[in-house]
Amino acid sequence: MSKKGRFIVFEGIDGSGKTTQARLLAEALEKKGRRVCLTAEPTDLPTGRALREALGGRVKKSECEMAVLFVEDRIAHNINAQNGIAALIEDGVDVICDRYYYSTLAYQGQSTDYGWVKEMNLRCPDIRKPDLCIYVDLLPEQSLERISKGRDSVEIYENIETLTRVREQFLSVIRDLGEEDNICIIDGYRSEKQISEDILAIVSSLV
Ligand code: ADP
Ligand code: TYD
Repeated sequence: MSKKGRFIVFEGIDGSGKTTQARLLAEALEKKGRRVCLTAEPTDLPTGRALREALGGRVKKSECEMAVLFVEDRIAHNINAQNGIAALIEDGVDVICDRYYYSTLAYQGQSTDYGWVKEMNLRCPDIRKPDLCIYVDLLPEQSLERISKGRDSVEIYENIETLTRVREQFLSVIRDLGEEDNICIIDGYRSEKQISEDILAIVSSLV
């Protein structure tokens, strides 16, 4: 087993099960005796709080400003001295992150300029490339079934359109980065246990 920690990222549309699987992987690795840090973006750092204010509509930001804010938050997440991703990995801790630059490429890459967003994220010396990205794939109809119980059909219809577009954007990012990044698409339409066993097998094969 390597001395350095592994950096594993989970991506997927809302309701695909990425948060559940990130948690299950963290628990499984801890059971195996690994030290694990489960984290997420946007972060809880000041940069992440600024992003949430903008996401919640309390502060108005342009799409380009949002792209830059996500990058700023990601840099802070990487280099922060106490519990930054870089320091944890060096210390041998496995870092599991719920959303990362694939989300910025999928969302802001479409709403601004994809090439610019890709350069900012992939060429930034302070933004670490994950050892593995797990994309939990689920059709929007299925993810909505999981998250939208009790909502009316109009809202569900609107959400299906949005989630379908976001899923297409993610799949396009995966096609684009397939050569440079280690990305696994996992079928999310199975039991939590089946999916997590698959993911653990993939993670165990990482050097
Ligand atoms: P995400 O983080 O991608 O939005 P979550 O992990 O929060 O997704 O899961 C969304 C909802 O679906 C939660 O209520 C969760 O308990 C449920 N869920 C997660 N994985 C599965 C699964 N494999 N089968 C059925 N329901 C699931
Ligand atoms: P998240 O906290 O994962 O929201 P949720 O709990 O609803 O899944 O992410 C907040 C929102 O930020 C989500 O709609 C996706 C969006 N986002 C981007 O647009 N770009 C990014 O780079 C990231 C990390 C998230």
